[in-house]
Amino acid sequence: MLTLENQIAGILNETVKKIYGDKETRPVEITVATNEKFGDYQTNFAMMNSKILGGNPRAIAENIVANLVENDTIDKLEIAGPGFINIFLKDEFLGNIVSKIMREKYEFLGLNTEGDVIIDYSSPNIAKRMHIGHLRSTIIGDSIKRMYRFLGYNVVADNHIGDWGTQFGKLIVGYRKWLNQEAYKANPIEELERVYVEFSKASEDHPELEDEAREELKKLQDGDEENYRLWQEFIKVSLDEYGKLYKRMDIDFDTYYGESFYHNVMPGVVEELTSKEIAVEDQGAKVVFFPEEEKLHPCIIQKKDGAFLYATSDIATVKFRKENYNVNKLIYVTDERQQDHFRQFFRITDMLGWNVEKQHVWFGIMRFADGVFSTRKGNVIRLEELIEEGKRRALEIVEEKNPDLSSEEKDNIGEVVALGAIKYADLSQNRQSPIIFEWDKILSFEGNTAPYLQYSYARIKSILRRGEAEGKPLNEDAKIIFKDKAERNLAAQLLQFPTVVLKAADSCRPNLVADYLFEVSKKFNSFYNACPILNQEDEILYSRELLASKTAEVLKAGLGLLGIKTLERM
Ligand code: ARG
Repeated sequence: MLTLENQIAGILNETVKKIYGDKETRPVEITVATNEKFGDYQTNFAMMNSKILGGNPRAIAENIVANLVENDTIDKLEIAGPGFINIFLKDEFLGNIVSKIMREKYEFLGLNTEGDVIIDYSSPNIAKRMHIGHLRSTIIGDSIKRMYRFLGYNVVADNHIGDWGTQFGKLIVGYRKWLNQEAYKANPIEELERVYVEFSKASEDHPELEDEAREELKKLQDGDEENYRLWQEFIKVSLDEYGKLYKRMDIDFDTYYGESFYHNVMPGVVEELTSKEIAVEDQGAKVVFFPEEEKLHPCIIQKKDGAFLYATSDIATVKFRKENYNVNKLIYVTDERQQDHFRQFFRITDMLGWNVEKQHVWFGIMRFADGVFSTRKGNVIRLEELIEEGKRRALEIVEEKNPDLSSEEKDNIGEVVALGAIKYADLSQNRQSPIIFEWDKILSFEGNTAPYLQYSYARIKSILRRGEAEGKPLNEDAKIIFKDKAERNLAAQLLQFPTVVLKAADSCRPNLVADYLFEVSKKFNSFYNACPILNQEDEILYSRELLASKTAEVLKAGLGLLGIKTLERM
């Protein structure tokens, strides 16, 4: 991959080759310097290779420093501690790259972008309104999708909706017993939810209701016309409702292949598993057992009564995708509670010899301090409520800061800020950490938050507008020069954008992008405090305008990867 890091490492590798000939060393690897005193990058090459090359690491480092090959990238090398080499880039090189950043496609990275990356995310179980428990899979998945697209992959976004399973038997029973037609007309999914909760309550005292539900489910599975019609209706009203929310959140999918979609694929899967003797009969069911050392529970793929299971449908997802796409990689985004499920069915597809790369991207669940959300218990915060509350808070601030904006503009700012805050509160965390839901935290607008970054962006835009008004419009062809350390630090930070995206996509960790953007914003503020942009002699003014504008571009693109919009003014 031709990242900037690899380019720099290449110069050092050449130097090593010049000195040591064809000795089999480990290649030079460089990392971003932890402190500006140590230059822009560093390498521990000398320590890593002292055994191979003989001699102490400091001597090796000295040798490299003394023999650095001609190049127009590295300004100087310095040795630190036991043999670290600190790498300082040439100002001119740095300025030059930064002035071009965001102008090129990432093809130069040389990734293997062939085929399709299929990302399976959001995937709510239908007939329930989306609550904030669904938030994480939806926005983490969306961000992963955006990162892969940005890097040049062809991405297929698939919503594997939970449109099959025991809840439909209960819903059908509840629908017939308790549905209020009026309420159903007004807000169908809310009414279905109520009916479902009603069923749960009633079945505590009347367990026979569970049998009834099982019967209705069986009828549905056997193709009963009326139950089938109801089931279709539940799916439709649910998808209509989700569609509105997805649209509001700027999230979309290429396919909605839910669990039921795989019905025709599952019998073949079971057939293949049994004929290859991967699945065996056990008390009437078909089960896959794993070698003991793998510490995986046996996985039932077909129940005694012939019913298929969640695992069966997921094995089918792999088969279907393998046969219908040119798979580069399959990514599944769900909460941590499904880790065993994914381990099991990934392993089973390996046993089948289906060679496709798969990744389960799991996240910690969001909960209240006193427990997990549960639609059944009725202690959920709906997504819509959360966005509305965020918007109310954002509007209060806009009203105070910018009372003169039109109400239309204010409304738009409120919406963009609220959605930004909500998405960022989630994406800026290590996805594997649990999130305790707190209104003030999720809707915070200060510190490491989206509104803070959106505000940095809007501020740069306002500076550039001022420059334009003063007859000094941004010149994209200006040369970026460094008079002050703060300028150089900002430039060096901007430079890292492609590598950060690459790492974030590879590990499916959007928080790496969030952390990076926060750092960009901080460095921009230091720059802005130290270096007046306007009212300078032209050479400096145009350089600083361009540096500021590049910062804005990086912020916009970076926030875009998190599914967050920017505003020209706020
Ligand atoms: N519907 C499932 C749930 O709500 C998530 C599905 C995830 N995707 C998959 N292919 N298993 O837990």
